[in-house]
Amino acid sequence: MCSIIGYYGLEIAAPVIVKGLKRMEYRGYDSVGVATEANNHIELKKGVGKVAEVNSMVHLDSLPGRMGIGHTRWATHGKVTDKNAHPHSSSSGKIAIVHNGIIENYQELKKELEKEGYTFKSETDSEVIANLLQKNYDVTGDVKDTMMRTISELKGHYAFVAMFDNGQLSAARFHEPLIVGVGLSNFFFSSDVLGFIEYTDDAIYIENGNFAIMSKNEFKILDFNGEAVKYQITKVSKEFADSYKGEYAHFTLKEIYEQNETILKAGERSEDGIIKAADFIKHAKNVYITGSGTSYNSALIAKHIFSKYAKIKVETIMSSELQFSPDIIEPNSILIAISQSGESADVLEAVNTAKNVKCKIISIVNLLTSSLVRESDIAIGMNCGPEIGVAATKSFTSQLAILFKIIEKLSNNMVKVDFEEMSRSISKMLEERNKIKKIANELREISDIYVLGRGIHYPIAIEAALKLKELTYIHAEGIPGGELKHGPLALMDSGVLVIIINPNDSTYLDTLTSAIQIKSRGAKIIGISDVPSETYDYWIEIPKTSDLTYIISEIIPIQLLSYYAALEKNTDPDYPRNLAKSVTVK
Ligand code: G6P
Repeated sequence: MCSIIGYYGLEIAAPVIVKGLKRMEYRGYDSVGVATEANNHIELKKGVGKVAEVNSMVHLDSLPGRMGIGHTRWATHGKVTDKNAHPHSSSSGKIAIVHNGIIENYQELKKELEKEGYTFKSETDSEVIANLLQKNYDVTGDVKDTMMRTISELKGHYAFVAMFDNGQLSAARFHEPLIVGVGLSNFFFSSDVLGFIEYTDDAIYIENGNFAIMSKNEFKILDFNGEAVKYQITKVSKEFADSYKGEYAHFTLKEIYEQNETILKAGERSEDGIIKAADFIKHAKNVYITGSGTSYNSALIAKHIFSKYAKIKVETIMSSELQFSPDIIEPNSILIAISQSGESADVLEAVNTAKNVKCKIISIVNLLTSSLVRESDIAIGMNCGPEIGVAATKSFTSQLAILFKIIEKLSNNMVKVDFEEMSRSISKMLEERNKIKKIANELREISDIYVLGRGIHYPIAIEAALKLKELTYIHAEGIPGGELKHGPLALMDSGVLVIIINPNDSTYLDTLTSAIQIKSRGAKIIGISDVPSETYDYWIEIPKTSDLTYIISEIIPIQLLSYYAALEKNTDPDYPRNLAKSVTVK
């Protein structure tokens, strides 16, 4: 998703900004740009591609001056073109902006501004901010007043940084992340702490509905009415600077390999939160659980395990759907929100909907400095370190580990989860790397994959299909085994590949029957099971373990398969096309 950055300090701004943008690459983007100010003149360079590619073409980092702004764009309004890349300057070139979010009323604003003679170079919604600022600055001649007038005219969700050619930077936050990095001689606005972590670990989290002004002589934060607000400097975790691939070819592979350790660290330092969460859940009238993408798949698993092990009913709600059926949520209930980033717009909106009817919020989140944490009554940290690969891997298993820990507490420790066994089983699955690499070769010519599972293994099948489509761009679908004969069987022929998740539990025989029916239609079958079968063209063996360890173990070979198939298909496993790690717009 778009990342914005602003810098003012003693260093030459452009190289610092380029470095910050590179660190935020994981958020996902398609084009990049930088603008700087020197001697009351703004200069700007931008283009389509990765930061390093565009930089080597147009030399973003050669721009002069000690103040600047930068952006990586994830297209929403307007195609992926050089012109639509940010920064955007006002028609006079005296103000430039970078923006993350969506300006809903941009068409009306654009029409009015065009009537008044302002010109536009792009198809984006963002460019109106630059011209609107210019119009207001021409009237007021003052940055604070200009920002207040502009903000009052904008509708939508945004974080933007504006650079004025008089040497002032200003940034506003409305439902998109915005953080200030406070160094000794370097100051930043950024969407993410990774934008400045190399320079400082002191940060100010700008509250929603506030804006800030930064220049040589001043730094202040104001609310949208122009009143100064008090702020706090927070120390951010240095571990988030530790995002290097090391010996691994990709972050995704590194993150898959970290899981035998991250599973042991889940919820560390959040022990009180886990106890409190269990207490809230025990006494709640209703419990709902929400998330997006992989985090939603964790919620689906939670539904099964809460009822099986803690005899507690939870209702799952996809975050992006809640706004259309808000009445699902009974007032004064509990909403458990799961999110790696804590910044997914859909999740934040779901939380907001629940808070409006006085629900308490328990969040399971990796970034403990995120917006979600600030909206929560209890926040439990996944503690799995930075996850850079866009496709979630280690955060998924950490989310499950935390849900297991909550179950332990809900059962008054009658249920004991063996996390050491889980870690050993993950390590064993990781040793299957070479076998899985060979199977990945089979996916090269395949255009459809179906993943079958029943019961609690159905959400694993859905997560498996999600990993496959994100990483390989092959159409993949998770199917509840029993539904095969109610439709999907029509799709089975020698051109498809089917992955059968078939543990030796109560689902075994029914699932094997489905596999045999599929096999007789000519499809190739990969069996993921603790028992072999001649029905499988390939068998990936899962060690026999306790049930909860078994579920965790099932997803590891599919993460590896998706990764190696991505290499076979020549896609970039870390940054799948069109996707973003942190989806901060709706
Ligand atoms: C994006 C990512 C997914 C992720 C989802 C939810 O779609 O590409 O990998 O599962 O967002 O993200 P969250 O940070 O809320 O867990």
